Amino acid sequence: MPATRSAVDPSLDLFAEIARLKRERKAVILAHYYQDPDIQDIADHLGDSLELAKRARDAKDADVILFCGVHFMAETAKIVNPGKTVVIPDLEAGCSLAEQCPADQLRAWKQRHPEHYVVMYINCSAATKAESDIICTSSNAERVIRAVPEGRPILFGPDKNLGAFLIKKIGRKMDLWPGACMVHETFSSQKIAALKAKHPDAKFIAHPECEDHVLQLADFVGSTSKLLEFVQKDAGRKYIVGTETGILHTMHKAAPDKQLIPVPYEDRTAACQGCNACPHMKKNTLEKIYLALRDLQPRIEMAEDVRRRALVPLERMLALG
Ligand code: 13P
Ligand code: SF4
Repeated sequence: MPATRSAVDPSLDLFAEIARLKRERKAVILAHYYQDPDIQDIADHLGDSLELAKRARDAKDADVILFCGVHFMAETAKIVNPGKTVVIPDLEAGCSLAEQCPADQLRAWKQRHPEHYVVMYINCSAATKAESDIICTSSNAERVIRAVPEGRPILFGPDKNLGAFLIKKIGRKMDLWPGACMVHETFSSQKIAALKAKHPDAKFIAHPECEDHVLQLADFVGSTSKLLEFVQKDAGRKYIVGTETGILHTMHKAAPDKQLIPVPYEDRTAACQGCNACPHMKKNTLEKIYLALRDLQPRIEMAEDVRRRALVPLERMLALG
């Protein structure tokens, strides 16, 4: 790493410096809804995993894509738009789901099930994507599964909770990889039920990365952008929001007259073992964004053969619309 990780001068106006560097670098800033409010506010485009993948693919006029999210998202940007310099504020911003399904383990699973079609959630590495037949996100998973040829058995990973939700919803059998999101699996159904009893006029809305006992309590289940849309369009006034806390910022802005209650989670023993904030998403800061634009580091790079193989299942997904 070059000498770019030095402390940032605290007297700098980071908002002004980031805006200046963004112009100079011809950069586009993409941010996920789980980013801190300040980061969401400086983004050119905010979105869920699918929307951000499309924004990255369509970033024709930019030279640089600064991806404020986690590593697999920035990697996806590089896979679909390899001609751009893709930078991420913190290279260590990972994802428990991506970590739990390395490519060699997926390859071994496929070898045990050679007749299966492999559907992988976008929360996985480029190398794991390269082993897949098609990618899905929480926005389009239902459509992707329905597009798998009838009669073809399916391996689905890495999220067993999203997989179980889809099996229930679509009624199609799938073999599931045993991965889970470290944030969504801390949500407590007992505490949610107690909160619902305290606020009988509130609807509980949840991301499909939550466990089944939590989803059973939900009035609506959807990706981050679908949850946002639901709060905007629904006639209700109060919502318990069953996903990572970052989205509350944009929800408040989009629906200022609605009351939003963050999801209650299990308290674990060690600090931050039970939390509705993703520690990976929260690694990104304005300081690191400034440094990433200044130094064009850390960059997302990958072997070209891996990129090409990972592009195939991503393009199959994107072709579904
Ligand atoms: P979506 O924004 O695509 O719903 O994904 C949620 C998530 O956990 C991203 O890591
Ligand atoms: Fe991964 Fe969960 Fe964090 Fe999303 S919220 S990036 S799935 S660990």
